[in-house]
Amino acid sequence: MAAIDPITSLYVHVPFCAHKCEYCAFFSEVSNGALMQRYTAALVRELELVASELRPQTIFFGGGTPSLLNLAQWETLFGAFDRLGLLGAAEWTIESNPATVSLDKATLWRAHGVNRVSMGVQSLDEQLLDRLGRVHSREMVFKSFDTLRAAGFDNINLDLMFAIPGQTPGIWQATLDETLALGSEHVSCYEVIYEEDTPLFEQLKAGEFDVDEDLACAMYEALLDRTAAAGFGQYEVANFARGQRGADGVPALACRHNINYWRGGSYHGLGPSAAAYVRGLRTKNWSNTQLYCEQLERGRRAIESTEQLPPLRRAGEMAAFGLRMNAGWPYALFQERTGFDLRLEWRGPMADLVERGWGEADAAGFHLTRQGLRFADAAAEMFLR
Ligand SMILES: C[S@@+](CC[C@H](N)C(=O)[O-])C[C@H]1O[C@@H](n2cnc3c(N)ncnc32)[C@H](O)[C@@H]1O
Ligand code: SF4
Repeated sequence: MAAIDPITSLYVHVPFCAHKCEYCAFFSEVSNGALMQRYTAALVRELELVASELRPQTIFFGGGTPSLLNLAQWETLFGAFDRLGLLGAAEWTIESNPATVSLDKATLWRAHGVNRVSMGVQSLDEQLLDRLGRVHSREMVFKSFDTLRAAGFDNINLDLMFAIPGQTPGIWQATLDETLALGSEHVSCYEVIYEEDTPLFEQLKAGEFDVDEDLACAMYEALLDRTAAAGFGQYEVANFARGQRGADGVPALACRHNINYWRGGSYHGLGPSAAAYVRGLRTKNWSNTQLYCEQLERGRRAIESTEQLPPLRRAGEMAAFGLRMNAGWPYALFQERTGFDLRLEWRGPMADLVERGWGEADAAGFHLTRQGLRFADAAAEMFLR
């Protein structure tokens, strides 16, 4: 089976950060040298356990802050990828924080086939960076961007956030313009999500600020206008890339790894808290780095839960995810991937979305409109069964 049907997409979660940001609910903890070392060895062990069924075309090291691993730890990981015959992916992304990028590290990444770096910028306003609990200054963003270019990276993504408490339209537009002027190949811009159990959520609950929905809409409009004017093509609610659009409607420099998620493809996930979707089974690793290491030290996978969704429920999820993309779902592709006809099973929600001006159907497929993309989460809910 493995030889016939290898998994071509690999996610690796690195659960360490220099400091925990006020808004972030990703599984990560403030780094501790000994645990990072133990994690690196455990990750190599986990990679060995799944290597025979992997032939990665896209690899994504996310976090947490993968750039926090030191040079020796990266060398260990690259050595394992090499030994197991897993180098050579067409797209290999590493997420980084501007405070932890160095020329040595970036050069090492590039030398082993990493060809895309995603850097968390969030804002270029010093006060907001402080407010968000970021460990870097705006100057570090510019410096790290230059470092990545000097190391040979010609495919860089920059992450921004908008609708941050205290962010005025003027501050947002200045950040956006300065970021676009850097000339990266890709930008991801997320509206702030108030995640439970984060300090920002507690501040909201305590009434320290209000959420202004109209302001968030205006900021999203500015985002769409300015990215288009700067030559980026939007291909998902929060994602914009340079390059010609292909037959699939997606710009050439889009993140192929993430497109595989939105199109419901299979992927392996390694590291604490990582999810995987392999041969119809969804699994999730323990969100506990100690426990993760212990399990792998005993030679076992560190899987907390396994779930097989009923086909229609899985298809509903795939409909919801795919509609986050500007290209929406071509009916034929949806049927090929899920076995269901979008027009038959979801006739009601589709008609509802068209009536609200959020969706548009043509002979080939269904997609959300500019207005609908702003409310993609609400639209997605309508497809879940
Ligand atoms: C794992 S982080 C990126 C890399 C690195 N850890 C960093 O922050 O610099 C992924 C991205 O998710 C976004 N993000 C995280 N929490 C968010 C939230 N609560 N609301 C909106 N965006 C969020 C941020 O833009 C962040 O850059
Ligand atoms: S946003 Fe990035 S740096 Fe901040 S806590 Fe989350 S993963 Fe860590």
